[in-house]
Amino acid sequence: MLKRIASLALLASLSAGLAFAAGGGKEARKQNWKFEGVFGTYDKASAQRGFQVFQEVCAACHSAKYIAFYNLGDKGAPFYDPAYPNSNDNPVVKAIAKQFTVTAGPDSSGDMFERPGTSADKIPAPFANEMAAMAANSGAFPPDLSLITRARYNGSNYLYSLLTGYKDAPEGVQLSAGMSYNPYFTGGNQMAMGAPFIDGLVEYTDGTTASVEQMSRDVTEFLTWAADPKMEQRKGTGLMVMIYLFLLSLLLYGSYRAVWRDVKH
Ligand code: HEC
Repeated sequence: MLKRIASLALLASLSAGLAFAAGGGKEARKQNWKFEGVFGTYDKASAQRGFQVFQEVCAACHSAKYIAFYNLGDKGAPFYDPAYPNSNDNPVVKAIAKQFTVTAGPDSSGDMFERPGTSADKIPAPFANEMAAMAANSGAFPPDLSLITRARYNGSNYLYSLLTGYKDAPEGVQLSAGMSYNPYFTGGNQMAMGAPFIDGLVEYTDGTTASVEQMSRDVTEFLTWAADPKMEQRKGTGLMVMIYLFLLSLLLYGSYRAVWRDVKH
C-alpha cells in the first residue's frame, strides 16, 4: 500500500515537473524578501520606490485596474499615514492621483472628457481596450499587473527573475520580429516585452541608486503588496490568535492542577 502511494506520488511529481518544463521558464531565482515568513511585513520604502517605477515605466503598457489611488494609503499600503485613517484625505495619495489623467463623463452634452485623477479613481489603463494594447505591442497583450504575483507560480521570485533575466539569444535560437530573449518567461523563451530597464532609468525621489536589480526588486515589492494588500493584518491576527491560544492553555493547565490538587494519583 505504502509503496503504491509512494510510486503514485513520484509519478505525480514527475508529470508536474514535465508540465513545468514544457511551459518553458527557467526556475525563478529565490530572493530574500522581508514580506516572507510568519512575521513578514512589506518594506514600505521599497514599495514606494516600486510605485514610482510602476508609474514611470510599467504603466506605459500595463494596467493595474484593481488598484484605486486611495488603496495606496490604506493600512499596510506603501503610502499609509496614520494621520489620515481615511486614505482619501491623504495628501500624498491625492498628489499621486493628480499626476494621472482619467477619462470621465459623460458631461451634460453626452461627451466624455479628461481630468486629473482623484484619490477615488482607479489607476487608469494606458490603452482604451485590449485590441489597442495588442496593436501597440507586436500583437501580445500586456496583462493587468494588479494580481500578477499571485497569477504566476512563485510570483515574487518569478517577477524579479523575469525583470532581471533578459539576455542575448543563445546561438541557434532565432528570435521572431519584436521579440526579446528571456529564459524565465513561462510562455516560452521569447517575449514580446523588451527589457524594461537600463541602469539609472528612473531618478528615485529618495536618492537610492536605480540599478536594474534595485528597480526590479522595488517594483516586485510594490506588486506583491498590490496582489496581497491585507497580508500584514492577516499575519497580525494570526499572531494574536497564537498568543491567545498559548495563554488559554496556561490557564487550562493551571486549573487542571488546581482541580486535581488533593487527589492522589
Ligand atoms: C513597452 C511596453 C511594456 C512595458 C513598458 C512593460 N511591459 Fe510588461 N509586458 C508587455 C507585453 C507586450 C507583455 C506580453 C508579453 C508576451 O506575451 O510575450 C508583457 C508581459 C509582462 C508580464 C507577464 C509575463 C508572464 O509571465 O506572462 C509581466 C509580469 C510584466 N510584463 C511586467 C512588467 C513590469 C513590472 C513592467 C515595468 C517595470 C513592465 N512589464 C513594462 C509590455 C510592456
